[in-house]
Amino acid sequence: MSVLTILEFPDPRLRTRAAPVAVFDAQLKRLVADMFETMYAANGVGLAATQVDVHQRVLVIDMSDERDQPLVLVNAEIVEKDGAQVYQEGCLSFPGIYADVTRALKVKVKAQDADGQAFFYEAEGPQAVAVQHELDHLDGKVFVDYLSPLKRSLLLKRLEKQRKQAASA
Ligand code: NI
Repeated sequence: MSVLTILEFPDPRLRTRAAPVAVFDAQLKRLVADMFETMYAANGVGLAATQVDVHQRVLVIDMSDERDQPLVLVNAEIVEKDGAQVYQEGCLSFPGIYADVTRALKVKVKAQDADGQAFFYEAEGPQAVAVQHELDHLDGKVFVDYLSPLKRSLLLKRLEKQRKQAASA
């Protein structure tokens, strides 16, 4: 397994629309294993393949404190959503940046596992936020797209400033 490089905003590759996975082979399993390792190494709770520059519909999530509840969703599609919630989101492609986003409270997705086995998965609250956030990545969308232009430009200025500070440190 290896830790992959995470693309950071505004890398244009983050705007790529991912293609469905058609072949469930060893290469896919390796990608999933590498994505988990990358996400855990970065202390993230979710990661989409887009963020590691692989443009296939694969995402991984683990919101547990013990980091022992790995969830992989391949070719996931939301089939039902319900309610609304505001949740403060972050993203491994936007280090140190957080913002409130409104999303559905509950989602039901149809997906496949790394072997191609189809299943339904239901999530609520923060877990539902993670599913929606990661699915957006696969469509080339990022969480700051939901913010007002003013709020977005303030956050992006902060991101730029943090980068400059990190570069000069
Ligand atoms: Ni993200």
